[in-house]
Amino acid sequence: MSSIAAAWRRLPWWVEPVSVVIVLSVFGLYSFAIVSFLPGEYKEYLSPFYSPPIPHPDWMPDFITAPMFIIWMPLGFRATCYYYRKAYYRAFFWDPPACQAGAQEREPRKAENYRGERAVFVLNNVHRYFLYASFVVLAFLWYDTVLTFFPGGSFGVKVGSIIWLANVVLLSTYSLSCHSLRHIIGGNKDCYTCVRGGNTRRKLYNGVSRLNLQHPQWAWFSLFSVLLTDIYFRLIQAGVIPDLTILG
Ligand code: FES
Repeated sequence: MSSIAAAWRRLPWWVEPVSVVIVLSVFGLYSFAIVSFLPGEYKEYLSPFYSPPIPHPDWMPDFITAPMFIIWMPLGFRATCYYYRKAYYRAFFWDPPACQAGAQEREPRKAENYRGERAVFVLNNVHRYFLYASFVVLAFLWYDTVLTFFPGGSFGVKVGSIIWLANVVLLSTYSLSCHSLRHIIGGNKDCYTCVRGGNTRRKLYNGVSRLNLQHPQWAWFSLFSVLLTDIYFRLIQAGVIPDLTILG
């Protein structure tokens, strides 16, 4: 892994912002297409974009689909994430495009002109509320994970259930490594022995801090896992690949 990171650092500075633009654009367009036009419920699985499944009210126009009531939570969580903010400010706005010498000179807006985050970016200040909302969605995803191990009502393990489980583990790890969570759990305390449950909070804080060190990796791994899980289930549904049974 470290040799991959070292090789990545040797690439020209513009490779990272261009890669971020491509990956986030593909993810954004794919998510929009899934929740707008495509079905999300299969024989045994749900699309991860459709959990929890909710009914579409009759009075609601058809162009507003039921998963749109859900997807704003995980998407808002990612869009306001401290790491993604750094990534897309650099990639989309070149603000600055990279740290390397030379790249900063290409920054279109100079640092002395910075006036804080305005307009839609003001939402970045409510990241912790998107965190709370995302934990609600995660709880449903874990419930759906259990269901994937009971196809037809009895216990069984398929490749699809393992993929769903891996996806939810990565999403949970991404959420648990959040900077805001680290602050809420213990980063906002100067003295653990002065607060109730201080020892437990200190241990939780240390655990979140360990995960937090790799937050960028969890951000990308969990993003790719959502995409791949959805694509895998669509291939099963289309009959392109079988969902192999491991147990049951
Ligand atoms: S800082 Fe990235 S999810 Fe909170």
